[in-house]
Amino acid sequence: MELRSRWFWTVIFMQVLAAPTGRSVAVRFLNRQLVHVVIGQDLVLQAELDLPPGDRVTKVTWEHEARKGASGRTTVAEFPAGGPDGRTRAEENGAVLRVRNYQREDGGVYSITVTDQRGSRGVARCTVEDYEAVHHVSVMVNVSHSSLHCQEAWGTDPVFTWLHEKASVTAALGRVSADGSSLYLDAPLCGHFTCVVSNILGQSSDTYTAEPCEEESHSLAVAVVCLMFLLLVVGGLAFLLWRKHGQHNNRMERFKFFSTIVSKGTF
Ligand SMILES: *[C@@H]1O[C@H](CO)[C@@H](O)[C@H](O)[C@H]1NC(C)=O
Repeated sequence: MELRSRWFWTVIFMQVLAAPTGRSVAVRFLNRQLVHVVIGQDLVLQAELDLPPGDRVTKVTWEHEARKGASGRTTVAEFPAGGPDGRTRAEENGAVLRVRNYQREDGGVYSITVTDQRGSRGVARCTVEDYEAVHHVSVMVNVSHSSLHCQEAWGTDPVFTWLHEKASVTAALGRVSADGSSLYLDAPLCGHFTCVVSNILGQSSDTYTAEPCEEESHSLAVAVVCLMFLLLVVGGLAFLLWRKHGQHNNRMERFKFFSTIVSKGTF
């Protein structure tokens, strides 16, 4: 009985010892794994710290590693001590890193290392890239399948919009793909198709010019010409009839005149 009790307390004691080491500091980024930053704006990275109960953070270290170049990893900010440079700073108990006036050389991989009072550590990484403007928009056409495809070179988060003759594409004209980059036509491939690609830095576009949409205007022109021809024919006939009628009347008058003279025996 006494042996069993001792064994029981030993197990409990070992569990108590093991419990804190079983759970360590967990760190993850609230941002997406890939963050794009506009040059000149502030880069803000926010990490979420998950600590075991009773644990407290004693140190947070933010490091930066440029993707290209052999500069290696440098510490950019620390908590509780401030960063080596006033431009980068750890805020909110070290969970947030702020880099003022982001520049191209600030891109790369950022890591946060969180240490608790027992020396347990948690690490998370996040990649940061420049937010790029939209470049080189081009529209390609697939004539056999009545579809248009828009491409863009390297802009960040491009949003595609289609215009036909400078107006928004309607359902009657065709269907746009889920990402917006393709337009599948239900209507004939004619007129001007413009693909506008935009993101927060601006927009760029390209226009594909197909054969003019002239069915309606063409038929209208044909109708006008037919009408004019008809008017000409009717007018001409009316004129001829009028002239013929007039000559006949004249002749009749002259005949009457002569017959009057003859009957009166003037000659
Ligand atoms: C046109 O689209 C069809 C279907 O997507 C594809 O099989 C074909 O290769 C395309 N043609 C050209 C010239 O791109």
